[in-house]
Amino acid sequence: MNVRIAPSVLSADFRKLGDEIAMCEAGGADWIHVDVMDGRFVPNLSFGVKVIEAVKKSTTKVVDVHLMVLEPENYFEDYVKAGADVLTIHAEAAPHLDRQLARIKELGVKAGVALNPATPLSAIEEVAHMLDLLLIMSVNPGYGGQKFIDYSVDKIERARFLLDQAQSPAVLEVDGGISRDTIHRCWKAGADTFVAGNAVFGAAHPQQEIAVLRNLCSESV
Ligand code: DX5
Ligand code: ZN
Repeated sequence: MNVRIAPSVLSADFRKLGDEIAMCEAGGADWIHVDVMDGRFVPNLSFGVKVIEAVKKSTTKVVDVHLMVLEPENYFEDYVKAGADVLTIHAEAAPHLDRQLARIKELGVKAGVALNPATPLSAIEEVAHMLDLLLIMSVNPGYGGQKFIDYSVDKIERARFLLDQAQSPAVLEVDGGISRDTIHRCWKAGADTFVAGNAVFGAAHPQQEIAVLRNLCSESV
């Protein structure tokens, strides 16, 4: 199973976003995770099209856009135009997942669904075969630097089982509180893609930290 590390630019220093992204690439990041927040679905506001464009111009890596917004379908085209390679919507904010996933794919990018900690996996059961990505939130979305919720590990394990049962090739991503202390458990439970904000940008040596996290995704630790 391929391991992907996706630094979240939410924790980057925005005075030098281009340099921060270059640092992630030099450190071996696979994807760049971009958190779009609307101040309604989640209590925080972050950024939108302009920042996605700036990230896209700064990297050749996959731009992984996590939409924490109500009515995400209003923004699909703009975000694809801005450079998103993956668009992930929240099941809690998107009652018509079948139509919305189909629309994202029609626009030529990968389609993902995210689930809040309290949202059961059954929310995506019927559309598992349509997913390019399933994102298990391991914190309540809205902020970087929060504490990992331990019961997420069991959910990841069940998500792995559900995707395997559906013969879905979807990426299984985990987001929130991923660090040296939590990544191995999530990998072992079946996640393959790890968002890390504070763990990377708050590290003593951010560039090296990406490899540290990746190396913890192994039986031999
Ligand atoms: C939280 C965001 C995350 C956030 C993760 O709502 O979706 O992507 O940036 O930050 P850390 O890794 O610091 O928990
Ligand atoms: Zn995120």
